Amino acid sequence: MAKKLKVLFATSETHPLIKTGGLADVSGALPAALNGLDLDVRILIPGYTRVLEQMELENALKVDLLYTPGGAVRLLEGKMPGQGFPVYVVDHAGLYHRDGGPYQGAAGHEWADNALRFGTLSYVANLLSEQASPLDWQPDILHCNDWQTGLAPAYLHYSATPRARTVITIHNLAYQGVFDIKLVDSLWLPPEAVREIEGVEFHDQLSFLKAGLRFADSITTVSPTYAREIQDPFFGCGLEGLLQHRFDRLEGILNGIDTADWDPRADAHLVKNYTARTLSNGVENKRALQQELGLAQHPDVMLLGVISRLADQKGLDLFADIVPELLNDGVQICLLGSGDPVLEGRFSEFAHKHLGQFATYIGYNERLAHRMEAGIDAFIMPSRYEPCGLNQMYSMAYGTPPIVRHTGGLADSVVDAGSLENMQSDATGFVFEHADAGALLHAIRRAQAFYADLDKWHKIQRNGMACDFSWNASAAHYVELYEELLRS
Ligand code: ADP
Ligand code: GLC
Repeated sequence: MAKKLKVLFATSETHPLIKTGGLADVSGALPAALNGLDLDVRILIPGYTRVLEQMELENALKVDLLYTPGGAVRLLEGKMPGQGFPVYVVDHAGLYHRDGGPYQGAAGHEWADNALRFGTLSYVANLLSEQASPLDWQPDILHCNDWQTGLAPAYLHYSATPRARTVITIHNLAYQGVFDIKLVDSLWLPPEAVREIEGVEFHDQLSFLKAGLRFADSITTVSPTYAREIQDPFFGCGLEGLLQHRFDRLEGILNGIDTADWDPRADAHLVKNYTARTLSNGVENKRALQQELGLAQHPDVMLLGVISRLADQKGLDLFADIVPELLNDGVQICLLGSGDPVLEGRFSEFAHKHLGQFATYIGYNERLAHRMEAGIDAFIMPSRYEPCGLNQMYSMAYGTPPIVRHTGGLADSVVDAGSLENMQSDATGFVFEHADAGALLHAIRRAQAFYADLDKWHKIQRNGMACDFSWNASAAHYVELYEELLRS
């Protein structure tokens, strides 16, 4: 029997254990898909309180890995809920046992010791990938994700006994983990790491992401278009030079979605399940959603929806600018999200002033996200940049045409409908070019015109539902990449 390829998948969040965004969705579904392809993939994640609460850790492996002034860093082993493959948990009370999110406290401030918290995660990833690892399981590939695990390839580079080959996936280049360079002494890095411009130094500071991009054997990002965009100064966030330099090691692989979690035929959150053949069942979901959110019960009024982090990236200020025009058109709107307090305030005010026509839910709500995907008519995603984006794919799978800007993974996953007179036969949604409110309004008005022509609207819905957004193709692509790295 051929030896299984072993992968350590290091990440700062994974669904269903802990999630702030799409990174968690990918870090849950991709390892599961790879295990399904007969690889031996194990996740490495910090032992946040919420993670420990959800895992059965009795009789699990416990190894003391490292001693710090705050006590030993231990490795625990549990199983991924619902999947059963191993999850290694980096446990340290002082660093990870706290209320609040993985990166921020409840009041929204970044944890002051994030460099040490994620430096420790990266360092443990490195220890487990060395020949001197304390485990009897050693990975062939260390797969890192975003800045939080970016130092791991640097540690392996400086290690005397590196074993695994390394991949780093960029989920969002704008978050780089840049800290005071003096921290180098407490982060187990050799002094030369910051002396050389080629090391982890970035404009007199210490950059976790730059370290990963500099030292990983291979760099991937989550869509082919974003892989091209980030070599350009506009999207490159200061790292475009390094990415251009390493372009032969950089590849874009479009994310998939978890088709078990996001399946309108079986989604337990919905009042009525449906398929492309029973689209009319969707009316029940729309009615239930309107009721739940206090919107007027009109099955025929077009209902637009947003589910998003409220961050500059997502372009929702452009949407807020045109809400008055849209309300004048008579459409209904609902928004689920949290983040920027200014945007939270603007959307809450619309809801306050337009009861029954505009509904806002500020916060995070997984159940409502599913019910919205099924109950709304069209999904709005006017991102300024979008490495991949998952919600446009969830929307298409739920027969909800997305209205998106032509960037990153949105450009790679949505086919524009064109005009009513000259409709694109494989259309799945509405795409616009420029990040301005007028262009977004124009795209929404186009969608309104199609919505009034039910045959054409149903065609767009069915086209989206027929697309294969599963992880099959992309997971196979990662396997090819791993195998190629092991041959080189
Ligand atoms: P990003 O990771 O940049 O936020 P993605 O589209 O890749 O964007 O993934 C966002 C994920 O987070 C999706 O699973 C989406 O449903 C979810 N999400 C975002 N905001 C909320 C919210 N307020 N409530 C529930 N789910 C949310
Ligand atoms: C990031 C990106 C998003 C992507 C997700 C998963 O959060 O902003 O576009 O879908 O990572 O890769």
